Amino acid sequence: MKQLNTKDLLSVVDLSEDEIFRIFTLAGQLKKKNKKLLKDKTLGMIFEKSSTRTRVSFEVGMFQLGGYALFLSKNDIQLNRGETIRDTARVLSRYLDGIMVRAYSHDSVSELAHSSSIPVINGLTDLLHPCQALSDFFTISEYKKDFKQLKLGFIGDGNNVAHSLLLTAALLGTDITIASPEGYTVSEDIVAQAKDLASKSGSQIVLTAVPEEAAKDADVLYTDVWVSMGQEKEEDAKLKIFKDYRIDSAVLAKAKPDALVMHCLPAHRGEEITNDVIEGSHSVVFCEAENRLHTQKAIMALLMA
Ligand code: CP
Ligand code: NVA
Repeated sequence: MKQLNTKDLLSVVDLSEDEIFRIFTLAGQLKKKNKKLLKDKTLGMIFEKSSTRTRVSFEVGMFQLGGYALFLSKNDIQLNRGETIRDTARVLSRYLDGIMVRAYSHDSVSELAHSSSIPVINGLTDLLHPCQALSDFFTISEYKKDFKQLKLGFIGDGNNVAHSLLLTAALLGTDITIASPEGYTVSEDIVAQAKDLASKSGSQIVLTAVPEEAAKDADVLYTDVWVSMGQEKEEDAKLKIFKDYRIDSAVLAKAKPDALVMHCLPAHRGEEITNDVIEGSHSVVFCEAENRLHTQKAIMALLMA
């Protein structure tokens, strides 16, 4: 199997549009019929933050591919006692065939990747969540025809998930409108990267403070928690600031009649999304969660086989 051009997957911008389609094709094939593409390979999974979907989907994914995954809580390895990222990377490279890491600092994950001779996959940092966005666009492709004819409306915090959705939309030519309160919009650096990609793909990028603008005629409506992991101290303030940045039935009514409602999960019903909408006929959130498994199996196979 021809491998991807990148050693690591730290951001979707490590991939070309063609490579994203190769991931989706393999994900679709593996979803229909499993193949043991990573027999006897090992993946170390370093977690500095909590996880349900990422941990279970990577671990089960490795098992289904014929390999083995080790859960490495940051608290239990010597990284927590001052061993450097560089030394950790060099040691793990001698035992493992790949590393998946969930951490606060994106720079630390970049340093780990730089010092590792094996592929490093970003399982979420404060800046980005590339496996989520790739799985989400794979899910969209199961329901909609042409990424270039679609509008994705994101309502909520300009966070790691918003950043990776923005970059993926810009790579694939999907129009994207992100509605966030003032002071909580996406990072300027990510917008610059996205605009550069959009100039080639034709994607239209709109940033607004008005949720209805994101919802208007959207093919996909997306939201994420108002308070991300590590922002617990900001919770009281954010609950007030974000109260109008939710997907409810009134917002959904502004989208296209066949719009998909998406959420990376975990969801806080009654905050960023109402219970009737997440449980309603437009919602694909559990298919979206399932597709983390299939998409990440494809990613691992194309990086580690
Ligand atoms: N969406 C997502 O990454 O979920 P977990 O935090 O449960 O891994
Ligand atoms: N933005 C959320 C995503 C969780 C999967 C967080 O970082 O906590």
